[in-house]
Amino acid sequence: MNDEKLGTVYLVGSGPGDPDLLTVKASRLLSQCDVLVYDALVPNEILKLVKKGCKCIFVGKRRGHHSTSQLKTNALLLELATHHKSVVRLKGGDPFVFGRGGEEAVYLEQKGVSVEIVPGITSGVAASAYFGIPLTHRLAASSVTFVTGHEGIDKRRPYVNWKALANATNTLVIYMGVHNLDYIVNQLISAGLSPKIPAAVIQQATVKGQRCLRTFLGQLVDEVKSQKFISPSIVIIGETINFQVESCAPSPASVTMPISF
Ligand SMILES: C[S@@+](CC[C@H](N)C(=O)[O-])C[C@H]1O[C@@H](n2cnc3c(N)ncnc32)[C@H](O)[C@@H]1O
Repeated sequence: MNDEKLGTVYLVGSGPGDPDLLTVKASRLLSQCDVLVYDALVPNEILKLVKKGCKCIFVGKRRGHHSTSQLKTNALLLELATHHKSVVRLKGGDPFVFGRGGEEAVYLEQKGVSVEIVPGITSGVAASAYFGIPLTHRLAASSVTFVTGHEGIDKRRPYVNWKALANATNTLVIYMGVHNLDYIVNQLISAGLSPKIPAAVIQQATVKGQRCLRTFLGQLVDEVKSQKFISPSIVIIGETINFQVESCAPSPASVTMPISF
């Protein structure tokens, strides 16, 4: 049961960075909210959409700064909902795709706060689109899997079975994968995925400095190292990369992505 004295928390996806990819609903909520709580990977140009007097609170991770723990963020959102009518919790991409949106929503719901989820364009979809790489293709890929490469730190969490994935899906879209790439590629190849299968890495998709490297699975780790690809990047593996339409790529926005871990 929602407590009517409490405000509403809107869990909003900001999309992958290009402000033109914000949804109309996200834009409206940003311009109306009393408080904004935001993560890394949200460019300043999007933060500027808030009204005068709106309180803006950063709770993400940035290089050289400590991040706010999830428990503290949950408690902060509850506290803000007790004092404000409209709180926007803004997250990069989509709030329910590797964004801990589910954890925050359930916590608030249990405390009687009304929560609304506003989807955003997830970076895996946007990155491939901006470089003309279809994620499915009738001739090459009937399935696509979104997976995190940032696993194994907390053993209580479900781990990714790379070996099973190698045989179960056509296209792999890996988030947070650049640091763990050596391990991931080894697992996939030892499970039978051909080193000759195409692979791509897209860094800072949709914003200033976006770039893409195309190679093969067997050379992926060396190429990423030699070309110094860093986070935030999306890794794509699959035959569908052969169907890239290079000429249709939209121009990136001239905004800059904040540096994250
Ligand atoms: C914590 S996850 C958040 C994902 C987000 N909720 C989404 O739906 O896109 C952060 C990871 O998303 C990916 N990412 C986010 N924005 C990106 C961008 N503009 N270009 C490439 N990768 C991006 C990177 O893999 C980064 O490490």
